[in-house]
Formats: sequence, C-alpha cells, structure tokens
Amino acid sequence: MAIAFESLYSDIAGRCGKLTVGRKTIKTPALLPVINPHLNLVTPKEIRGMGVEAIITNAYIFSQSKQYREQALLEGLHKVLDFDGVIMTDSGSFQLSVYGQVSVSNIETLSFQRDIQSDIWVPLDIPTSPASDRKTTERELAITMERLAEARETFGPDAPLAGPVQGGIFPDLREEAGKAVADLGFPFCPVGAVVPLMEQYRYRDLVTVVMAAKRTLPRSACVHLFGAGHPSMFALTTAMGCDLFDSAAYALYAKEGRYMTTHGSYKLAELTELPCACGVCRTHSAEEIRSSPQRERLLALHNLHVTIAEIARIRQAIVDGTLWELVDERCRGHPQLLAGYRLLTSEAPALDRVDRVSKRRFFYRGDESCTRTEVIRYQEMLARFRPGENVLVAFDGGAREGFDEIYLFKPPFGPFPKELKETFPIGQSEIPEWDEAMVRQGCRGIRALADSHPESTITIGCSRRWESIVRQEVSGCGVLTE
Ligand code: GUN
Ligand code: ZN
Repeated sequence: MAIAFESLYSDIAGRCGKLTVGRKTIKTPALLPVINPHLNLVTPKEIRGMGVEAIITNAYIFSQSKQYREQALLEGLHKVLDFDGVIMTDSGSFQLSVYGQVSVSNIETLSFQRDIQSDIWVPLDIPTSPASDRKTTERELAITMERLAEARETFGPDAPLAGPVQGGIFPDLREEAGKAVADLGFPFCPVGAVVPLMEQYRYRDLVTVVMAAKRTLPRSACVHLFGAGHPSMFALTTAMGCDLFDSAAYALYAKEGRYMTTHGSYKLAELTELPCACGVCRTHSAEEIRSSPQRERLLALHNLHVTIAEIARIRQAIVDGTLWELVDERCRGHPQLLAGYRLLTSEAPALDRVDRVSKRRFFYRGDESCTRTEVIRYQEMLARFRPGENVLVAFDGGAREGFDEIYLFKPPFGPFPKELKETFPIGQSEIPEWDEAMVRQGCRGIRALADSHPESTITIGCSRRWESIVRQEVSGCGVLTE
C-alpha cells in the first residue's frame, strides 16, 4: 500500500499517528502549508527548517505555469521546490469552485501529478457550495464518486490517491460519501468543501458535516480537512478525528496585515505589543514590522510559527489525554466556535465509543464539561456495578445507620464506591466548588444506577442546598437531608 496510517495515541476521536507515503513518514496531526511557486514569501526549505514534514501545492498552477511546468515534469516537484519531505498536490478543484470551470480532466490532472512525482494525488472532485440545494449536491457528489472510481481503476490500488468526501451541507450525503470512499479502498480521505463554512464562522455546520463523514469512514483512514488553516479551530477539528490540515491562511492573513493567535487574529495596525515567543516577535516591535519592507514575510513567518506550535500543543494534549481541556480553551475565542464545541459535546455518546479509557486528568471548566465523554462513559458504566440491597449515596461522605453499602458522590460523574476513589475519572478529576449544572449531571448518574438496579433501594443523603435538584433529577429515590 502506497499510503498507510497508524494511530499511536488517541484522545476523544483525535489521534497522534504516523502517515506513511511510499518511503516517507510524517507525524500527525500535521499542518501542510500551502506553497504557491509564484509567491515564495517563505520558501519550502525554510518551512522544512521549522520542522514541517509535509507541504501541499497546486498541480493546476504548475500545469498552467510557463515558468515551472516543463521543469516540474523534467526534474520533479521536490527538486523544483527544494523540499525533501512529503509533497501533496491538489487538482484544479479549488479553482473549479472559485471560477466554475478548469481546462483539465480528472485523468489529465492525475497523470500530471504522477509525472511531476507528487507524493499524494488528489482527483478532480467537485467542492459543492454549502448554498447548493440537495439535487445539485447529489448530482455533484455522483460525479465526484465516478471520478474517484475512475482514478482507482486507472492508476491501480497502490497509487497514492486521496479520496475526497463531498456531500455539501447534507449529513446523510456526507455519510453516504464517506462509505462510498471507504468502499473504494481510499486510506486517505480529505473532507472537502468546508472552506466557505469556516470563512463564514459556521462551526456548527462544520461539526455536523465532519461528524457525519467520520461516522462512515473507517478509523484506519487518515482524514484531512481541506483548507483549514486557522489555529483557533485545530483543537476542535482534531477532537473529531481530523489528522491533517492544509492552509494558505498564514500567507493570506499576512497579505492582509493580520497577525494570528490561537484565540483569533489581530490587525497588525492595532497592535502595540507582540504577544508571542517566536523569533520574529522577540526581535521586532509591532512598529518595526509595520514599517518594514519585509512586513508581509515577517507576518507570514509569525503566522506559521503560531500554527505549527498549536499542532505541537495538540499532539502533546493527545498523548496526555487533555484534549477536551484544550478544545474548551480554544473554543472560547469566538462565540461561533463555542456553538460548534457545544454541538460536539452533544455528540459525546458517539465520541465515547472511541475515546480512551484513562487520562492524565479531568479539569472541570464549566457547564460544557458536564457532557464530556468521560462523564457519559462513567454513567454508562454504573449499570455494571453490583450495589447492595440498601444503598446510601452520601453527598458529604458521612455514614448513616441502616444501610448495607455507602456510595460517595462526585459531580458531574455521580455515585461511586470508595474503592474507585483513586481511579480515573473519580481520582483524577479536579472540580471547583459544586455548582448546579455539575450536581444535576451527577444526579443523572444516580438515576442511571437506580434504573439499572431495580433490586436495590437507593437513598440520597445531601444538604438542603441540593435537595430540590436531587428530587427533580432522581424522583423515586428517598432523600435524607441534614
Ligand atoms: N481545497 C479546499 N477545499 C477543497 C475541496 O473540497 N477539494 C479539493 N480538491 N481541494 C480543496
Ligand atoms: Zn510571533
């Protein structure tokens, strides 16, 4: 197999893995900076020097370039770009979505990508606009699928082909596309046509379509999110199981004088300080960058540093099992990101099936933490406990007469026998003073225990402060106060 993916660590649906393309291997999650050979703001060699293992460029631009076409065919892309890592090429699809047509066929672009020695080839898929109606989306998806099948048939099972998942804004079409791409045997699957969603801050829609595609793609597939380049959304999209990002954003933002941070962008014109530890920011003042003839290049370098550092932070969070905390932090940078994050937490039952069993810690960060995968999983596990006949769930931990078993209570998880005190998530969770949302969620755990053990009588011992919430959430159980 020319392309292979291996997951080494995982957290939520995110993975730290290895993508092997021919004889080259890169670490994931990864960002593939977009290289335009005509605008060498930052050279591929410099980018390599920043620790980047893979880049993406546009085969259509090369094929139309008087300057580079023949050289690329003769010497290969790696020589022309002076980059020895993985080079992925996009077809003319993006131009197709912007200009409405391209003067190249599916087989022509793929043959060209092969001939210039690209490491990963992309067929001429159709990025359907999110504004398209269902009929148009279905018709365009059918054409994309024909082209993917044609690509596989023409170039064989070992060709390093990407299989883009389209389907516009319709979750069932994204599911269908994911299944069809998987059935054709593509191990590398970009989720396409999401750029307009990200440009319009439609993160709920982004979560909906990515989750839909992931439902039918096999876990062994490496998933690329086409055109995702702002570091504020890498954590959210990694949590859903996206492994690769590509973007021209570092350069496009620089062109517009915009300075990226992990929680949003600033206009360089408005900055009096440079809140970043990169080489550019520590050796220049904001004013110096503004007045430099190298302004665009300096901004592009900074933007790349921020983007690459965020990928490193995400990889570390996956190894540690702290990706939810990072997602929570990043998604407070914009209300629409928060909306996307809330939608993702509502998908916790689906994510729970792939999330890991044990993590370094669980930090409670507010209401959104109540429906995290760890909470849902813990509450599902309660059905497997063997409580006694007459159980007290003691909020204050104190014993009372007349019970054959005492469970303690830790919100937002719920009841636990003291033997689990040191185990994940009970022992490794840090919560502030109890609030209503977490106690309510914990009570759902008590209800899950009661519902799954009708042979046990469960009584709750709590202070008056929590009595009404307990009675609302666990009706049918006895409540002792004081
Ligand atoms: N770049 C951004 N979105 C897309 C897409 O949907 N398909 C391709 N091939 N390239 C893209
Ligand atoms: Zn910087």
